[in-house]
Amino acid sequence: MSKQPSQTIGTDESTRSSNSLLSVSDLCTYFQTDEGVVKAVDGVSFDVQSGETVAIVGESGSGKTVTSESITRLFKSPPGFIPEGSIEFDGEEVNDMTVEELRTLRGGRVSHIFQNPQGALNPVYTIGWQLREAIELHQEVTKKEANEKAIELLTQVGIPEASARLGDYPHQLSGGMKQRVMIAIALACEPDLLIADEPTTALDVTIQAQILKLLKSLQEERDMAILFITHDLGVVAEVADRVVVMYAGKVMERGPVMEIFETPSHPYTRALLECLPSKGNLGGIPGSLPSPIDPPDGCRFASRCVFAQDECLEGPQPPAYEAGTADHVVSCIHYEPGGNPDIVLKSDATVSALDVDQMGVGGENR
Ligand SMILES: Nc1ncnc2c1ncn2[C@@H]1O[C@H](COP(=O)(O)OP(=O)(O)OP(=O)(O)O)[C@@H](O)[C@H]1O
Ligand code: SF4
Ligand SMILES: [Mg+2]
Repeated sequence: MSKQPSQTIGTDESTRSSNSLLSVSDLCTYFQTDEGVVKAVDGVSFDVQSGETVAIVGESGSGKTVTSESITRLFKSPPGFIPEGSIEFDGEEVNDMTVEELRTLRGGRVSHIFQNPQGALNPVYTIGWQLREAIELHQEVTKKEANEKAIELLTQVGIPEASARLGDYPHQLSGGMKQRVMIAIALACEPDLLIADEPTTALDVTIQAQILKLLKSLQEERDMAILFITHDLGVVAEVADRVVVMYAGKVMERGPVMEIFETPSHPYTRALLECLPSKGNLGGIPGSLPSPIDPPDGCRFASRCVFAQDECLEGPQPPAYEAGTADHVVSCIHYEPGGNPDIVLKSDATVSALDVDQMGVGGENR
């Protein structure tokens, strides 16, 4: 047997540092809808340390964006609400913050960049105006100083002849340039934590690589933490120090990036890796996510899991079990103490070999 799980961590607390910049514990974010309560995020825990990049990865609908929006309460409330859980930023409970305190946090010590810069930039103001506004909101500066700082920021994010571009409107810029402006605006407040939600998805591959390189160098210069949201494990390999793999509102696996790629331990992570373009499997993981309104008992991945057993269909989601190191945890019964993780780790079952119809377990196949 190659690896034995060493410890059960029911509350998932013992593996996580108490001195984190951001500490999310058992976070639940739900939405009240006409069809019922959507459990978009349903008991998620992870930490982010100063200066590191943590990537949240998972298929569409896993709850990545809602998790990231919960950190500064960006989601609309109602219908959104947080029934349980804690979000500590630099030791302060975000859930206890007033509207005013939240506003100071957002665009202050925590700043967001979004997937679609076209939607996030205001089309009726010049980029110079929008940058100066972001600078003046958080720093005591004169108009002249704000202008100088705007030019400095645009130069830092790689916009040539920055002073000449201040008078441009968003529609005059290419997609890559708009995303650079968004990054400059997000950096204007000198954040300790930058939350980047699919910041390169809308861009072509060359520009994508440039933006990722830019974020990395800005991070090193500023010792800034980044929470990077993506559905693309290829991007994770390039940017992250640690990874949180989410599925249907739950964390399936969490650990250092090297371990996740060298010893992917959760069946879902393994299936995601099988779907990388380099593996030639372009069809994705067979099956679909369970309903977030009425999720099934047991492991949320059961209906698509090639390693599922009867017990996977009962009770709550398996707790976070250690998979080799304390920093690497997996929510799967095969890693419980006395379990046999080799069933997963030594299997050559690949997602292409999955035949969901014949599995006979899980939601849609029960
Ligand atoms: N305002 C809302 N009202 C109801 N349901 C919502 C709302 N916002 C998100 N959801 C639901 O919450 C779940 C998680 O959504 P989320 O946007 O976080 O997924 P995601 O992982 O970011 O997906 P993608 O990769 O497509 O961006 C989905 O089922 C989504 O439909
Ligand atoms: S708990 Fe069961 S269904 Fe879930 S990943 Fe592990 S084997 Fe698969
Ligand atoms: Mg999203």
